[in-house]
Amino acid sequence: MQPSPDCPLCPRLAAFRAAARRSEPDWFNAPVPTFGAAGGRLLVVGLAPGLKGANRTGRPFTGDYAGDLLYSTLLDTGFADGRYDRRPDDGLALVDCAITNAVRCVPPENKPTPAEITACRPFLVEQIAAMPLLKAVVALGRIAHDSVLRAFGAKLAANPFGHGRRHALARADGEPVTVFDSFHCSRYNTSTRLLTPEMFRDVFAAVAGHLARQ
Ligand code: URA
Repeated sequence: MQPSPDCPLCPRLAAFRAAARRSEPDWFNAPVPTFGAAGGRLLVVGLAPGLKGANRTGRPFTGDYAGDLLYSTLLDTGFADGRYDRRPDDGLALVDCAITNAVRCVPPENKPTPAEITACRPFLVEQIAAMPLLKAVVALGRIAHDSVLRAFGAKLAANPFGHGRRHALARADGEPVTVFDSFHCSRYNTSTRLLTPEMFRDVFAAVAGHLARQ
């Protein structure tokens, strides 16, 4: 189940999308689909498409400031192959990994409301269910973390967000999945050095180590 290009579930986001279609008819301007194959063992979950990034290009994080660090880190840690060039036709391939967002449509000012995050969660639940080999999730930021935990039916109080934290969860079929938390790789977090490239790399290196032990 994917959201339709004209998904009506969030009226505010649908209106924002309609306005973007009028002002930028050549942009993607629709719910941004997951990037990567369903056979991967890792799912990276971001917040929501950026207006001039994923909402323009149609591929998660592609053309967004946050994508520069995400894709260079995935290339560095073996979860991507090729060259990232901020375009969906750059030929970059994900390895054992897929990337999606907690909210599929671009929200005004990058801020989805709690109701929009809830309305979009069924697509995240479906994404998780569609990955039979899934062993690890990287949640980028607290909003992604909370939505992923809820998608697994896990208790937020028992699993608080924290950069570098791991949460041992189970999918509906009982198979174990570990959620790795990271601060979001946003421009704000990187320019304030809340998140450094080394900290971000360490999260994905920990995931690679975890998968190697499976
Ligand atoms: N672009 C995305 O697709 N997701 C984010 O979380 C940020 C930028």
